[in-house]
Amino acid sequence: MASLVEISRLVKDFGAYRAIDDLSFSIEPGEIVGLLGPNGAGKTTLIHMLLGLILPTQGRISLFGMPMPEERQAILQRVNFSSAYVQMPMSLTPRQNLKVFARLYGVERPDQRAEALLRRMEIYDMADRRTRALSSGQFSRLSLAKALLNDPQLLLLDEPTASMDPDIAEKTRAILKEIQKERGISMLYTSHNMREVEIMASRVLFMHRGKFVAQGSPKDLIAHFAEPDLEKVFLRLARQ
Ligand SMILES: Nc1ncnc2c1ncn2[C@@H]1O[C@H](COP(=O)(O)OP(=O)(O)OP(=O)(O)O)[C@@H](O)[C@H]1O
Ligand SMILES: [Mg+2]
Repeated sequence: MASLVEISRLVKDFGAYRAIDDLSFSIEPGEIVGLLGPNGAGKTTLIHMLLGLILPTQGRISLFGMPMPEERQAILQRVNFSSAYVQMPMSLTPRQNLKVFARLYGVERPDQRAEALLRRMEIYDMADRRTRALSSGQFSRLSLAKALLNDPQLLLLDEPTASMDPDIAEKTRAILKEIQKERGISMLYTSHNMREVEIMASRVLFMHRGKFVAQGSPKDLIAHFAEPDLEKVFLRLARQ
């Protein structure tokens, strides 16, 4: 079977600055891949290219065997994205927002789907306040609920737990793992929480200045660099 995501010799320049420098990799069905790297490494830029929000300068991207951006419409049916920095209409309530997005995505039985996700992400209590009144951790859960509406086969998660308290972050990881088990979905996951990545990711891609400088399972990387944990591996690679 073909890889779910295939990237070949990808380059992205912003003017004279090369943010993504000749990246190639693939993601297999059911994999949770951690995308790590210091601020400015190029993680968000890479995710935005996978979503077709920005265009590569060079190289090829395909998802589900279809080229991005040519087949963007069809690809986006099967992908979703969450980050603490996602935008949605702030004057609507979370309940209204989820229902609007469910209709936009063409989800079957959109209202039931929205209600189920309000419960699952534990935002039921705040479902009828204005979205702008949510705390940042509450908003992250809403963003994740939005990302699950279309039952995606690939979830792109850009620091999904960034503003969550430890309790909610842990619950969120458990929900994501559950969903991954139930539906076998793949995830590309960025985080600055190395403990989280050790728990979640079967494979880690470590980026620095637009290139991959190391990859492997968290265990293998820790062993390879002879460090006690992934945090120390991160510090070593980021300071090179
Ligand atoms: N639209 C843009 N125009 C110019 N430069 C950009 C643009 N978007 C990103 N960059 C630059 O590309 C580099 C990579 O940025 P990116 O946001 O991908 O980093 P990141 O790995 O997600 O970092 P962080 O951990 O801080 O989220 C940075 O140097 C950034 O300034
Ligand atoms: Mg980023």
